[in-house]
Amino acid sequence: MSRIVYVNGEFLPEEEAKISVFDRGFLFADGIYEVSTVIKGKMIDNAAHMARLRRSMNELNMPSPASDEEITEIQAELLVQNNIENGLIYLQITRGAADRDFVFPKEPKPSLVMFTQVLDAVGNPKAERGISVITVDDVRWKRRDIKTVALLAQSMAKQAAVDAGADDAWMVEDGFITEGTSNNAFIITKDDKIITRNLSNDILHGITRQVVLELAAEKSLVVEERPFTLEEALDAKEAFVTSATAFVMPVVRINEQPLGNGGPGILSSQLRAMYIKRAMEA
Ligand code: PDD
Repeated sequence: MSRIVYVNGEFLPEEEAKISVFDRGFLFADGIYEVSTVIKGKMIDNAAHMARLRRSMNELNMPSPASDEEITEIQAELLVQNNIENGLIYLQITRGAADRDFVFPKEPKPSLVMFTQVLDAVGNPKAERGISVITVDDVRWKRRDIKTVALLAQSMAKQAAVDAGADDAWMVEDGFITEGTSNNAFIITKDDKIITRNLSNDILHGITRQVVLELAAEKSLVVEERPFTLEEALDAKEAFVTSATAFVMPVVRINEQPLGNGGPGILSSQLRAMYIKRAMEA
């Protein structure tokens, strides 16, 4: 059955939804996006996703096609129209269609697109066994704090991981892990310290990362926000990644080397359970 998607003011069957070939998202990756997970019909941490969307737009001087309230109303309507109980909602804003020119158009007509996907994020079977990652060189641009649709480097990294028989890739720059292809990376040291890279332009400021740091504080766990090396990761007791769709996902192998006992770590699994409980109660 075809989905209903939202394109610039219209709710349409996906086959009928169209974007111009001159759209700057298509020609220049001049667009930004957000992904919010839906549990039991409710979006998780959507206000925080909206705030990051605004920040991405501001950093790119991109005009807004709609207010937060309007966007939230469209999201809610789209969830109803597609009967989404458990899934995700993707939204993308681009600077819109204009003659191809590297300079931003003087009178941009930003475009807004949204669609839903069905997803059982809570029941993801990967959480039971944990995921494996390989490390790859981080070849991305230097403004990774902006959530742009320029995702080719991440797509290449994830493909390299799958080609190598792994689930995902961690990207490495100057000897330090930056983040996963579509998630933030954490390790837990043998003395139970949670380490994740500090916020900067080097990584996306993950909404799930922030929530997990708050949960860790509730549990009185020691957290160090700083870059960590591949060597530290290989020596860690546990590791995990966070994202809107993965929640807290244990990492059990890095470059084929098992961590700890080779299964999902205790603290990683506890943080996942806490995250899901919080999301369900929200
Ligand atoms: N990705 N880092 C990168 C590079 C990401 O693409 C994402 C999210 C994250 C985690 O951010 P958050 O916790 O706010 O989802 C970190 C989304 C899920 C995606 O591209 O599908």
